Amino acid sequence: MAARKPLIAGNWKMYGRRANLGELEVLWRSISPVAAHVDALICPPAPYVQNAAWSARETGILIGAQDCGTESEDAARTGDVSAAMLADVGARFVIVGHSERRALFGETDAVVRRKAQAAQRAGLTAIVCVGETRLERDSGQAGDVVVRQVRDSIPDDAESLVIAYEPVWAIGGDRTPTPAEIDEIHHIIRGTLAQRFASGASDIRILYGGSVGPKNAAEVFAVGGVDGALVGRASLKAADFAAIILAHPAAK
Ligand code: PGA
Repeated sequence: MAARKPLIAGNWKMYGRRANLGELEVLWRSISPVAAHVDALICPPAPYVQNAAWSARETGILIGAQDCGTESEDAARTGDVSAAMLADVGARFVIVGHSERRALFGETDAVVRRKAQAAQRAGLTAIVCVGETRLERDSGQAGDVVVRQVRDSIPDDAESLVIAYEPVWAIGGDRTPTPAEIDEIHHIIRGTLAQRFASGASDIRILYGGSVGPKNAAEVFAVGGVDGALVGRASLKAADFAAIILAHPAAK
């Protein structure tokens, strides 16, 4: 199996102000000794992406965005932000298909796929989020739902692609799946990718997301198929996010 460099991504969601970008410097002070072994990514709200990229320019912290438009070319899409614009101001990654966008903004797998393709065309790495609801898990459909989302949301290109498995019921709360449950779904995703892409699928990183924090990060990272984490709340404070990064075995 190809060695995949762990990726630990922070999703600031719609929190913070410009002043929060000061956290980047604090974060870098803690993680710089291990940065060669772990990719650390921060995705601030869109208006702050450019400032974040500037603040992080002399650090190894990667900057990304939380969403992008479906169009690759400039277009009449009032209020939308294109992947090309995000790349232009220094983003390297973009999250697409986060469950909040799927649930609250009605994004379908087809829309997520177009966003991922637009991201790749702009030279960004797309982090495609998938994950089942509590109801879907309780009715034994978690695997099927995730397979469908992966198949229908991912672009044709396996390059510059990351998958984040985020069970909807584990986001923003204090419940997480057991290591065995994470392992099972990560294996299912890996198998789906292997079927879809003749080659290259083994380079795709599969992250776990949903209530990852300093206390449970080591347990999550110990799960065989987990290549890193997508972190919400605990990424807002540099000390917490650094503790998560430092909990990764690659950082030891
Ligand atoms: P959380 O969010 O870490 O606050 O649960 C994760 C996410 O939504 O990506």
